[in-house]
Amino acid sequence: MAGRQVVDAPASESKLIDSFKMHVATIESANLEQLHALSVSVGWPLRSEDLQFLRDCGRGYVAHDDIGRLTGSAMWFPHADDFATIGMVITSPRLQSNGTARWLMEHVLWDCCGRNLRLNATRASRRLYHSLDFQPMRTIYQCQGIVRQADSTATTEQPPIRRLEGEDLAAVAELDAGAFGVSRTALIGKLFAQSVGYGLFRGGRLEAFALCRPFGRGHVIGPVVADSDADALAVIRRHVAAHENQFLRLDTPVETGPFATFLSQSGLAVFDTVLAMSRRGKGCADVVQGSNLYGLASHALG
Ligand SMILES: CC(C)(COP(=O)(O)OP(=O)(O)OC[C@H]1O[C@@H](n2cnc3c(N)ncnc32)[C@H](O)[C@@H]1OP(=O)(O)O)[C@@H](O)C(=O)NCCC(=O)NCCS
Repeated sequence: MAGRQVVDAPASESKLIDSFKMHVATIESANLEQLHALSVSVGWPLRSEDLQFLRDCGRGYVAHDDIGRLTGSAMWFPHADDFATIGMVITSPRLQSNGTARWLMEHVLWDCCGRNLRLNATRASRRLYHSLDFQPMRTIYQCQGIVRQADSTATTEQPPIRRLEGEDLAAVAELDAGAFGVSRTALIGKLFAQSVGYGLFRGGRLEAFALCRPFGRGHVIGPVVADSDADALAVIRRHVAAHENQFLRLDTPVETGPFATFLSQSGLAVFDTVLAMSRRGKGCADVVQGSNLYGLASHALG
């Protein structure tokens, strides 16, 4: 296939980039402050805690120069034996367009050994992923801002919502698996532990949920799973109301309709977009994301 990157041998342990020789090391070995500085250098709002959480959930590599300065990173998150997401692909601005990201991605792809892969590509990274045989799937809208006029009361009758408790975790993980395309129970457990969640129950059965946790400049709502805009709205409404005059973010594939309108009316305007892309693993069945995934956990985690 045209443009296909065949990774049939491990990538080299070092690479000469301009006058710099870069070395690869595992992401765990990286200094957290340096990793934070790297993400800040490309304008990302992640906190050290967010980066540590990503390290706890995934694996990956950093590039560093001869005197230990961190110059790049790339991570992957193994949600299932045959499926992973990719994220934290960063090259220090002064060293971009020298092949660092491609080199780190070769390491990641080698480790992923044939898994189905999904990622959310920024504009700057599309060419890279396209040349590595990732195919475009859909646009993701990064909605964020200071919450205004948070409306906790809906005009129509509201479905039964309650705060999620520990005993709901299995049902949340199951509903998420149907929407995300594969079960990511371990990750949902970790997110659940640091989130406030609301669930919509009908006949005692969980039909929609939204988690919300501290992240970046404030809080992020996600994942959000629901079968309709009305249900999705019902489970995010209280999170939005709870963060009036605070910074809130939600990454969604939903562009129009009541859900999107509510977000923009609440102050969560579309700040940026990324392109969800996927790459089919050799011999793996396709992993299909459902239309009921209204909110992502994060760009890196899907
Ligand atoms: C995207 C990013 C990681 C690329 O890193 P890099 O080390 O410059 O990438 P490479 O040098 O390995 O280049 C890989 C390909 O991307 C292209 N590319 C690099 N930067 C680009 C840019 N700003 N715009 C368009 N294409 C770009 C290169 O030309 C190359 O394509 P080619 O092989 O067909 O010539 C880097 O620009 C970056 O850190 N951006 C900010 C963070 C970000 O958006 N990360 C992606 C998250 S999904």
